[in-house]
Amino acid sequence: MEVAIITGASKGLGASVAKLFLESGINVVGISRTDNAKLYQYAKENNTNYHFIACDLSEKASIQRACDRLDEMLFKETLSQIFLINNAGLVDPIERAENIDMDDLMKQVHVNTVAPMILTNHFLKKASEHHVRLLTAIVTSGAAEKPKYGWSVYCSTKASMNMYTQTVAIEQADTEHAIIAFSPGVMDTGMQETIRSSSQGAFQDVESFRALKENNELRDAEIIGGVLVDILMDDNMENGKIYDIREYI
Ligand SMILES: NC(=O)c1ccc[n+]([C@@H]2O[C@H](COP(=O)([O-])OP(=O)(O)OC[C@H]3O[C@@H](n4cnc5c(N)ncnc54)[C@H](OP(=O)(O)O)[C@@H]3O)[C@@H](O)[C@H]2O)c1
Repeated sequence: MEVAIITGASKGLGASVAKLFLESGINVVGISRTDNAKLYQYAKENNTNYHFIACDLSEKASIQRACDRLDEMLFKETLSQIFLINNAGLVDPIERAENIDMDDLMKQVHVNTVAPMILTNHFLKKASEHHVRLLTAIVTSGAAEKPKYGWSVYCSTKASMNMYTQTVAIEQADTEHAIIAFSPGVMDTGMQETIRSSSQGAFQDVESFRALKENNELRDAEIIGGVLVDILMDDNMENGKIYDIREYI
């Protein structure tokens, strides 16, 4: 049995990736604060299972409870492979660095970097103990390599996830596990709505992002999700690689 654990499966890219795994015959566990009723429907249509774990990824105790629940659920003799998709992310607060509230900053760092590291570390250990293969993807961004005015925390957290991916990949080189990062490009999701609602003072590029929507240049999350799922299913997936959607579309 294979299972995909997907953070932020409630909407956007995460919901699309969850749907695609279910359609491929793989059970999915979604981790986010809110649920998505459609995923139960897709599971039923494809004779698979969707399970939701309510979790606030900005809180350590909530992540710990989710890990405990997953350990109970998953590690049975039939489990052969886990896909761990660290997808949940926060782009806000979008603001000049000196105006960012400390609590907002900590929340963004926790969701974008601390939670993916805790989950990946946890399942590397558990999967090794149970002789189960773990394929991990971390959803990163072009902002990891390109500074954007008003996005100091977002750019820094995504850059840190690229380095985490490359470092863990070296450590896992002699194991059956593998880890990649995936940069999805601009997609038509709630995150882009948040970006478009920024003020010019907080985010100098806001007009160009509004134009992406007006000119229909934002990509469909389901198409992007399909590329990520294909990469993860490919026997030649390259451990430690930062995959970029521009290589595919
Ligand atoms: N959209 C783009 O153009 C774009 C571009 C480059 C990279 N990305 C990256 O792609 C990934 C997916 O983005 P998206 O566009 O699909 O975003 P989205 O539509 O805003 O969805 C974000 C997901 O993250 C979850 N999430 C946020 N805060 C959370 C928390 N505290 N605890 C648990 N879950 C939380 C949300 O679930 P709940 O609200 O239910 O908790 C939701 O499912 C992110 O890592 C993002 O940085 C997006």
